[in-house]
Amino acid sequence: MKTLIIGAEVVFPDRIQKANILVENGSIVDTSADATTAADEVIDASGLHLIPGAIDDQVHFRDPGLTHKEDLATGSRACAKGGITTFLEMPNTKPATITLEALEEKLDVAAGKCLVNFGFYIGATPDNIEVLKAARRTPGIKIFIGSSTGNLLVDQQEDLERIFAETTLTICAHCEDEATVRANSERLSGGSAFIDHSSIRDHKAAIIATKRAVDLAERHNHRFHVLHVSTAQEVEFLKTTSDLITAEACPHHLLFNVDDYERLGSLVQMNPSIKNKEDNAALWQALLDGTIGVVATDHAPHTLEEKQLPYPQSPSGLPAVENSLALMLDSVNKGRCSLQQVVSWMCEAPAKVWDIVNKGRIQVGYDADLVLVDMNREAEVRNEDQVTKCGWTPWHGDTLKGWPVRTIVGGRTVFNEGVFDESVRGTEAKYNHA
Ligand code: DOR
Repeated sequence: MKTLIIGAEVVFPDRIQKANILVENGSIVDTSADATTAADEVIDASGLHLIPGAIDDQVHFRDPGLTHKEDLATGSRACAKGGITTFLEMPNTKPATITLEALEEKLDVAAGKCLVNFGFYIGATPDNIEVLKAARRTPGIKIFIGSSTGNLLVDQQEDLERIFAETTLTICAHCEDEATVRANSERLSGGSAFIDHSSIRDHKAAIIATKRAVDLAERHNHRFHVLHVSTAQEVEFLKTTSDLITAEACPHHLLFNVDDYERLGSLVQMNPSIKNKEDNAALWQALLDGTIGVVATDHAPHTLEEKQLPYPQSPSGLPAVENSLALMLDSVNKGRCSLQQVVSWMCEAPAKVWDIVNKGRIQVGYDADLVLVDMNREAEVRNEDQVTKCGWTPWHGDTLKGWPVRTIVGGRTVFNEGVFDESVRGTEAKYNHA
């Protein structure tokens, strides 16, 4: 099967240039094809930009065990709509992904029902080091150094030392210091308003845990990815760390701050919490100067019913995979960054951090995971249009300019102008360490 995409402005790693892209059997075979090249399917993409499919390295799709919030079919469908062609999913499902059997079960289920490509982290516990050493069909190890949704937690120093000393896969962690969060919570008697969430999970909790994890990584010469950086203090600290350390920012930490609790309440209750305007600015600056290299969502759906519980019973987490790329394209249109930077943060950098084979670039030999985006399209984000199972978004009512319009996974169009091809299946991501 040959597909020819003609007329698009193609975002290559080093330039944006009009080019015709030929795809054959799921791979990019020519990036300067003649417009008359014979093909089974010709996609006229005039007026659009062609970018590599986005890779979201932090999602929670709740399958197995919490599938009333999301499952691998609905989560991957939301990815297809949002221009995310590969997701890497977190281990805090039920059961948690802390054994090789649970990892393989997820991979099997995903192969049957995911519309985009997939990978699953192996979760660390205080006593599953042999599993962490043996796992190969995974991008890496996830540690909850601070607890969040679910009961995964490794916060004793000797357990952490052992994991960093004895394992080889790249580690990522949820960094909020457990003792600080508990002390803050006690001081505020558990909290009673949503804004208390940002005082309980405060700046101090984030910087203490991030410093602690980076110290472990650097002493043990271990690659480490700081998930969802939320504070200016962490940004300052990350400027001083070695090449072993990479970091990520999420749209909600870039775009929301404590002023938004009044309007959005628990819809912006997240772990780590959203912080202040100054933190938004520091995170943007960190992306622009390269201190933070990856943008991912931490897509963490809960039902509206659950979200409507009073604080602190309300769960932390918000859905984002179907809007993250549009939010970043809108940021391009607002002059905050360039399209090439968005492609670097959402496509190329995550592939590099997780050693994913042949993804994240438009280059001959790479997988044909591609997204056509219309930088001029304006559309309102609406709850009723969301395909995530939870059916709401904190960006409801916002008009964004710049949208993915067609998503191609392994050479096949899975989403085009609002229509899904439900027969498309993604495949398991491959890693250089496997
Ligand atoms: O707010 C959050 N919710 N942060 C996380 O790290 C986990 C997530 C969830 O799974 O609900």
